[in-house]
Amino acid sequence: AGRERRTSDVVVIGAGPAGLMAARTAKAQGLSVTVLEARRRVGGRTWNGLVEGADGKDHFIEIGGQWISPDQTRLISLVEELGLPTFSRFRDGRNVYVDPRGERHVYDGLDFPVAEKTDREMDRLIAKIDELTAEIDAAAPWEHPRAAELDKISFRHWLEQQSDDPEAIDNVSIYIASGMLTKPSHTFSLLQALLMSASAGSFRNLVDEDFILDKRVEGGMQSVSLAMAAELGDDVVLGQPVRTLRWAEPDPSTADEKNGVAADVRNGVAHDGAAGDVVALTDDYEVHARYAVLAVPPNLYSRISFEPPMPREQQIAHQHISMGLVIKVHAVYETPFWREEGLSGTCFGGGRLVQEIYDNTNRGENLAGGAPGKEDPHGTLVGFVSDVYAEQMWALPEEERKAAILGAMAEYLGPRTLEPIAFFLSDMAAEEWTRGAYATSYDLGGLSRWGHLQNRPTGPIHYACSDIAAEGYQHVDGAIRMGEAAALAIAEREATDAGQPTG
Ligand code: FDA
Repeated sequence: AGRERRTSDVVVIGAGPAGLMAARTAKAQGLSVTVLEARRRVGGRTWNGLVEGADGKDHFIEIGGQWISPDQTRLISLVEELGLPTFSRFRDGRNVYVDPRGERHVYDGLDFPVAEKTDREMDRLIAKIDELTAEIDAAAPWEHPRAAELDKISFRHWLEQQSDDPEAIDNVSIYIASGMLTKPSHTFSLLQALLMSASAGSFRNLVDEDFILDKRVEGGMQSVSLAMAAELGDDVVLGQPVRTLRWAEPDPSTADEKNGVAADVRNGVAHDGAAGDVVALTDDYEVHARYAVLAVPPNLYSRISFEPPMPREQQIAHQHISMGLVIKVHAVYETPFWREEGLSGTCFGGGRLVQEIYDNTNRGENLAGGAPGKEDPHGTLVGFVSDVYAEQMWALPEEERKAAILGAMAEYLGPRTLEPIAFFLSDMAAEEWTRGAYATSYDLGGLSRWGHLQNRPTGPIHYACSDIAAEGYQHVDGAIRMGEAAALAIAEREATDAGQPTG
């Protein structure tokens, strides 16, 4: 049986927040769109889930991205426009810090209760990172005059050059390494770390959990994508991974006769600026369009066959962008018991198996017995197990894994932590159409070498994803910004093309 043929101005590949925002924006610009999504749901790395509890009931969890910070203004305004209520992360009460010796400290405010020397060392490192951050343009970190130099030293190595206090180094590195890029701090560069902090305004913003983990959407962050998809209706097609993207006919006049490859394509200069015949092929559809928005994380670009192949420099660059790895741990309790003890549920322990915990109790009308603004009587904790620890945990049998993780969480919040009524581990690394979490970043030296390519359209193909964003880099806000920017760039090209004679 043949494929169903569709024609639209723009074909969008991927119905995560970036792709849906691109489609929504393109439509508002008067362009017709078709969104092709591999999964049988929209939202990508945002996902409202249910987990069955020992009480026989389903409990709501946010499997993917969820928090919004005050600087993420494009997402905030979209959430408002879509009429989705938000609420603040619960943060009343005292926090818990577990030090490298395993000792537990209860503290107030943002500063970890560490020895005075370590405290001073952390402040000094944070100030130093912020000095460099202020020099970085998040939209083009590769343009920093010392980009190559900042990109050739690992974040870990640089921290070790600055300080000989391992506790200070661990506590500072978590905000970017295990806590954000979810890669060990020796695997990415100082420049990559500075992009992360520049994208959030400053490193101090990343350190301030009340800033970076401020608000949530009632009923879950996937609701943003669900609301955009509802507006788009039949323009969104689910369960259709794009396998092939034909983006230009190779020019026969420049074909390399002997090898059958168009020389201009091979040299990476082909078809720049050409809008025209894009054909996206899935198992059941062929969508003909003038432009494509590739709204998938860069680690998945190579899952698509490009005809002709992408220019050589892109084929190389894409191999140096990879996903981090983190397990998001969800534990649901009869009540938020930690609050009875005057604790906020916020816990930190740099370098530990579970390095961060937060109160993640839900709110909203989609909960059992829920109503707008109403908090779930069940208490939920969310914790994170990053990079090498995540690997260690996945290597264990299920029951041992659960016991190890809950045991690590109990170091912060006591023995009642060991008995949740529901428990779930987010496993985006096992998902065919994500392959890691939270997001992608370059390996050592990659950002300065290839970053300038990531947002440059390839002929009619425009790129959109949180992982190539400036503001909101690796976050839903960045995805929204990039989706909007790609669609506006296409609309501008359309307008320019329309004003010019053809032929
Ligand atoms: P995203 O990956 O979301 O969407 C891409 C879509 O493309 C997917 O739906 C995929 O199925 C589809 N696709 C892939 N290949 C395809 C193909 N060949 N054909 C068709 N479709 C294809 N952010 C934040 O702001 N706050 C937070 O608290 C967190 N926390 C967090 C936790 C966890 C566990 C994860 C995994 C992620 C986060 N994030 C986050 C990050 C946030 O979720 C992420 O930045 C955005 O979802 C990225 O949106 P995109 O649309 O760019 O990609």
